[in-house]
Amino acid sequence: MEVSGPLWVRGGVPVVSADGYEYEVRNRVTLCRCGSSENKPFCDGSHASIGFTDGLD
Ligand code: FES
Repeated sequence: MEVSGPLWVRGGVPVVSADGYEYEVRNRVTLCRCGSSENKPFCDGSHASIGFTDGLD
């Protein structure tokens, strides 16, 4: 079964929430796009357990 993963962002790109909260800038982050992470906006690996696919393959 194929599973799609998070968005990998590299290069110290700032991540800011809709309410203006600024997360710590890191060189690499993975952003959840499945909606199931308990640590949004970051991926916690939940995409694998729910079998998330983006339908792009
Ligand atoms: S993409 Fe990994 S938890 Fe959502």
